[in-house]
Amino acid sequence: MITREAIKQILDLARWAPSGDNSQPWRFEIVDESHLVVHGFDTREHCVYDLEGRPSQVSLGALLETLSIAASAHGLRMQAQRRANWPDCTPTYDLHFDLTADCPVDPLIAAIPVRCVQRRPMSLRALTQQQKLALEHAVAPDYRIIWFEGIHDKFRMALLMFHNAKLRLTLPEAYPTHRDVIQWNSRYSEDRIPDQALGIDPITARLMRFALGSWRRVEFFNRCLAGTWMPRLQMDLIPGMACAAHFVIQAQRETQTTDDFVAAGRAVQRCWLTATKLGLFHQPEMTPLIFARYVRNGIGFTAQRGLQQLADELEAATSSLIGPDVAHAVWMGRLGAGAAPTARSTRHPLAQLMRKTDHAG
Ligand SMILES: Cc1cc2nc3c(=O)[nH]c(=O)nc-3n(C[C@H](O)[C@H](O)[C@H](O)COP(=O)(O)O)c2cc1C
Repeated sequence: MITREAIKQILDLARWAPSGDNSQPWRFEIVDESHLVVHGFDTREHCVYDLEGRPSQVSLGALLETLSIAASAHGLRMQAQRRANWPDCTPTYDLHFDLTADCPVDPLIAAIPVRCVQRRPMSLRALTQQQKLALEHAVAPDYRIIWFEGIHDKFRMALLMFHNAKLRLTLPEAYPTHRDVIQWNSRYSEDRIPDQALGIDPITARLMRFALGSWRRVEFFNRCLAGTWMPRLQMDLIPGMACAAHFVIQAQRETQTTDDFVAAGRAVQRCWLTATKLGLFHQPEMTPLIFARYVRNGIGFTAQRGLQQLADELEAATSSLIGPDVAHAVWMGRLGAGAAPTARSTRHPLAQLMRKTDHAG
């Protein structure tokens, strides 16, 4: 028999799925013991990085994969069906759970609560062939991994991230996101990213906090005090070199629909959990792919002409690194061994993620 308690335990574990800026774009509704509704949403209205809601859909995919893995601990097989004709900005899933005799516990389950982002430098030790094969296996057969290893390739990636960060940090349209997503003076944050998980030193953190107090301050720091240099060095260039490898997950064909992006998120989460199981840390590096998509699809995202040109140059650099199938890339990041981060995002309590209809239950 499936119990309501089991469904709550599954949800409680799956809450640890990753999401862009820890936005947790989902709410849950327990209809009955075997039927759960996941109400997805996105942040495209206020977050320049959530282009057409695609990153939120990738997050939603990561959540669905995590739910399915968590369900396996209870001998439950999960089937997810997206509601047809539901608006793209609120993808809504009906999940049905079946108790089956042949549903082994997924070996990735232990990695769910410990998987987290490492934004600080990692070990330079190269990945073993076995580790690479395990990660490739985690995304196969619909996705493949392109590796960027060795000093030369890592430097090209680190430089891309360094230039990309100039666009991020000088883009007025990104300012509200940067102002709102960091929880200052914190090691943990339920609904944002704690500053101590950003990978910057305490002095840079204090300066950033002051600068982010208003867009005028950001502009002044950027123009007169070379304000982007320290954060870009600490958050992009140095970590870009200090890792085992960068990698790109590429789909067989161009990802276009909501279902494509959700499916990609499922593969990404299997890969990230596999990395955790192998003792590796990961940091997503998604913004070059997002800006490249803006450019490729001719979608304007800034009123600043100079920044549009910078985005065009970045798109060219991203394409030259990834190759002609850049539009197939669904995920990018760096990987490596090393010490675990000492600060991380936590999550909303489960009660806060429940749709009101279930509170009585
Ligand atoms: C779609 C998506 C995009 C992300 N992009 C980035 C990124 O560009 N840089 C980064 O450092 N983290 C990125 N993250 C990681 C999230 O910030 C992180 O998952 C979230 O804050 C929760 O933290 P945790 O993964 O440590 O639990 C991304 C995560 C998702 C799911």
